[in-house]
Amino acid sequence: MSIAAPSVLSLDYSRMSEQIRELNESGAKWIHYDVMDGHFVPNLSFGPDILRGIRKASDLYLDVHVMIEDPVRFADIFLDAGADNYTFHIEALKDEKKIKDLAAHIHEKGKHCGLSVKPGTQLDALKPFLNDFDLFLIMSVEPGFGGQKFNPSSTERIAVLKQWLKEAGSHALIEVDGGINAETAELVKQAGCDVLVAGSYVFGQDIRKAVEILER
Ligand code: DX5
Ligand code: ZN
Repeated sequence: MSIAAPSVLSLDYSRMSEQIRELNESGAKWIHYDVMDGHFVPNLSFGPDILRGIRKASDLYLDVHVMIEDPVRFADIFLDAGADNYTFHIEALKDEKKIKDLAAHIHEKGKHCGLSVKPGTQLDALKPFLNDFDLFLIMSVEPGFGGQKFNPSSTERIAVLKQWLKEAGSHALIEVDGGINAETAELVKQAGCDVLVAGSYVFGQDIRKAVEILER
């Protein structure tokens, strides 16, 4: 059974409260919230205030994905604003100790933490961290924008990571993000993916129907 995580990057912000209500009633359990700083990725999105607003309007699990240069500085800010999970990029911190320290800090606050890799980063880079995170996010597009085409090499990366996690005795979830639709959802699920982020696919149609298709 997979989890759909609609990405609010694709939400129609002229009808924000209506769309959050639709999400609440869609059967989705997660909301994926993309934070971009204009440095780590060439785009800007939302800060903690919008997250606080969504937290007030929804009880769904808030899955925050930060595409920012300084995930340490902003961790508490997003956790205190209502994030249930805080996923940052391995490419932003690089240093093994810093990555493990941030994971431990998030756990101390009673929250979940995720580690994300861009499509061009060697999967091997995740190996030292298999037992430190609740979730690993395989980016299936270059982070920064919604509506891009799924990179097919992601399915192989998911399958390899699945095997590594099993061998390490880790129960961490594997999440995929970018270019997910009915067809690519099938491919990543077969490879062992647990959580499917989808923006343009979900908000381009009836939300409930899209969630149903992604989760079946
Ligand atoms: C891209 C973001 C994604 C984005 C996915 O950098 O991390 O979460 O919303 O959008 P789609 O599903 O349209 O590819
Ligand atoms: Zn994302």
